[in-house]
Amino acid sequence: MTSGYQVSEESDNEQTTTAVATVTATTSTAGTQIASVGAGSNEIPEHIRKFVFTNQKTGISSDTTALTEPLEKVEVQIPELLQSGYSFYTWPCAPVLAWFLWENRRNLVGKRVLELGAGTALPGILAAKCGARVILSDSCILPKSLAHIRKSCLANNLAPGQDIEVIGLSWGLLLNSVFNIGPLDLIIGADCFYDPSVFEDILVTISFLLERNKDAKFICTYQERSADWSIEALLKKWKLRSVPIIIDNLGKSSGVDLLELMGNHTIHLLEITKER
Ligand SMILES: C[S@@+](CC[C@H](N)C(=O)[O-])C[C@H]1O[C@@H](n2cnc3c(N)ncnc32)[C@H](O)[C@@H]1O
Repeated sequence: MTSGYQVSEESDNEQTTTAVATVTATTSTAGTQIASVGAGSNEIPEHIRKFVFTNQKTGISSDTTALTEPLEKVEVQIPELLQSGYSFYTWPCAPVLAWFLWENRRNLVGKRVLELGAGTALPGILAAKCGARVILSDSCILPKSLAHIRKSCLANNLAPGQDIEVIGLSWGLLLNSVFNIGPLDLIIGADCFYDPSVFEDILVTISFLLERNKDAKFICTYQERSADWSIEALLKKWKLRSVPIIIDNLGKSSGVDLLELMGNHTIHLLEITKER
């Protein structure tokens, strides 16, 4: 079994105050720029990662799409703490899901979207910037993660409680926070299937939400970590069905290198709906 995770949830509890400083972009990768932020000796270093979504290849004037389509561009700034818990870093699944949402941005306008296990919330924030009405969620027992999500929102000029909602939602727990969620068109999640012990909890929540929102779907990315992991039996148990979405050409028209976007991991995109 491979994991790729070098941090533990417990470190969330030990996280100290972070420094916010003026930053300068230093590196450019598949649509992303990373800017380091200095921190004092007792502080976890923070950096701002900038993700740029466009409909055109940058710097290539001979591209015919560049001549015919007006430029569309959205930037998302994500504060990250590399030495902290899972939810303070943008996992490779998130930009992949975000690019899928970007390429389907016309369908997002006015849609009610819930992101599960949002972490730094790149896909949900992008969806909000594309005109969706977004609720971002993460575990209700991780207040620092929820605070970090609010920070991500503010970094993108989205005021929590006004432009975007942030709620505690723990998978498998059908608490008031879940019952209070209004109608939904789309549920999204990046890298939520990283620990088999919570696969059923995620699908219980999805099954409940899709039962209440018959036309909604759950679109998620997951990273292949073990050939032994499967959600097939659980999908059946909770009367859900999944269809893979082919992403071979994701980002191609914008000049994005998919392998670089995936950080050289194998990442899949799935659509999960309620069995009818
Ligand atoms: C691997 S991280 C992915 C974060 C983010 N979606 C991304 O792709 O960058 C998993 C996320 O799920 C959240 N999480 C873990 N267990 C959870 C639970 N039981 N209920 C809700 N969220 C949970 C973590 O706090 C973390 O933000």
